[in-house]
Amino acid sequence: MIWVLLLLMGSFRMEAQQDCAPCHNEQIADFGKHKHNTKAGLQCGVCHGPSDKHRKSNGEAPPDRVAAPDEVAGMCGNCHLQEKNQYVESKHHHAVVQRTAKSANCSTCHGHHAMKEWTVTQAGCARCHTSTPAACKEKPVGSAVAKVTCMNCHARHTLAVAAR
Ligand code: HEC
Ligand code: HEC
Ligand code: HEC
Ligand code: HEC
Ligand code: HEC
Ligand code: HEC
Repeated sequence: MIWVLLLLMGSFRMEAQQDCAPCHNEQIADFGKHKHNTKAGLQCGVCHGPSDKHRKSNGEAPPDRVAAPDEVAGMCGNCHLQEKNQYVESKHHHAVVQRTAKSANCSTCHGHHAMKEWTVTQAGCARCHTSTPAACKEKPVGSAVAKVTCMNCHARHTLAVAAR
C-alpha cells in the first residue's frame, strides 16, 4: 500500500517541495538529505498536507496538519506502525501524553526534517536523565562491546530492560 503511494508521489516530488519555497528553504534543505526524501521520495505534504490555503495566504492560514508533541507518534506511525506500537507502551509516551515532564517523542530522538545521527540522539539522553540507577553503570552480562550505551540494556522503543 505504502509503495503505491510512494510511486504516485515520486513523480510530483520536486514540484511539491517548490510549493513551500522560498518561505521554508531551511526545512527543504534539511529534508533533502533525509532518507525520507533521497530513498523513499516522500514530500512535505505527506506530513503537513498540501496546505494550499497556507501557501496562498503567506502563512497566515495554518498548514493543513501540524502535529502537537503527543500527535507525532501517530503521524510517524502511519508508516512505521511497529515502532509506534512499541513506543506507545513506553514511559516516554506516557509522559508526553500526560505532559507531566518534558519527554521524548519520535522526533526528539530521530529529528523530523534532518535525520539525527545515533551518536547525537544518544548525547541527548543525558539532557533529561541527569542521574540513572546504579544498574545502568554495570556492564551488560555477556557483552563484549567496548563502549556500553543505553541501548545495550534498554530496548530502543519500549525501553524495557533486556533479560539479564
Ligand atoms: C508564502 C510563504 C509560505 C509558503 C509558500 C509556505 N509557508 Fe509554511 N509558513 C509560512 C509562515 C510565515 C509561517 C509562520 C512562521 C514560521 O513558522 O516560519 C509558516 C509556518 C509553517 C509551519 C509551522 C506551523 C506551526 O504552527 O508551527 C508548517 C508546518 C508549514 N509552514 C508548512 C508549510 C508547507 C508544508 C508548505 C508547502 C506546501 C508551506 N508551509 C508553504 C509561510 C509560508
Ligand atoms: C515525516 C514527516 C514530515 C515531513 C515529510 C516534513 N515535516 Fe515539517 N514537521 C514535521 C514535524 C513532526 C514537525 C514538528 C511538529 C509540527 O509542526 O508538526 C514539523 C515542523 C515543521 C515546521 C515548523 C518549524 C520547524 O522546523 O520545526 C515547518 C516550517 C515545516 N515543518 C515545514 C516542512 C516542509 C517545507 C517540508 C518539506 C520540505 C516538511 N516540513 C516535511 C514533520 C514533517
Ligand atoms: C509516508 C510514510 C512515512 C512517514 C509518514 C514517515 N516515514 Fe520514516 N520512513 C519511511 C520510509 C519508506 C523509510 C525507508 C527509507 C529507505 O531506507 O528506503 C523511512 C525511514 C525512516 C528512518 C530511517 C530508518 C533507517 O533504516 O535508517 C527513520 C529514523 C524514520 N523513517 C523516522 C520517521 C519519523 C520520526 C517520522 C515522523 C516524524 C517518520 N519516519 C514518518 C516512510 C515514512
Ligand atoms: C528514546 C529515543 C527514541 C524514540 C523516542 C524513538 N526512537 Fe526510533 N530508534 C531509536 C534508536 C536508538 C534506534 C536504533 C538506531 C540505530 O541503531 O542506528 C531507532 C530505530 C528506529 C527506526 C529504524 C528501524 C529499526 O528498528 O532499526 C525507525 C523507523 C524508528 N526508530 C522510528 C521511530 C518512530 C516512528 C518513533 C515514534 C513512534 C520512534 N522511532 C521513537 C530511538 C528512539
Ligand atoms: C526530553 C526528555 C527526555 C529525553 C531526551 C529522553 N528521555 Fe527517557 N524519559 C524521560 C521521561 C520524562 C521519562 C519518564 C519518567 C517517569 O515516568 O518516571 C523517561 C523514562 C525513561 C526510561 C525508564 C523506562 C521505564 O520503563 O522505567 C528509560 C530507560 C529512558 N527514559 C531511557 C532514555 C534513553 C536511552 C534516551 C536517549 C535515547 C532517553 N531516555 C531520552 C525523558 C526523556
Ligand atoms: C548495564 C545495563 C544498563 C545500561 C547500559 C543502562 N541501563 Fe538504565 N536500567 C538498567 C536496569 C537493570 C534498570 C532497572 C534498575 C532499577 O530499577 O534499579 C534501569 C533503569 C533505568 C531507568 C529507570 C529509573 C527509575 O527510577 O525507574 C532509567 C531512566 C534509565 N535506566 C536510563 C538509562 C539511560 C539514559 C542509560 C544510558 C545513559 C541507561 N539507562 C543505561 C540497566 C541499564
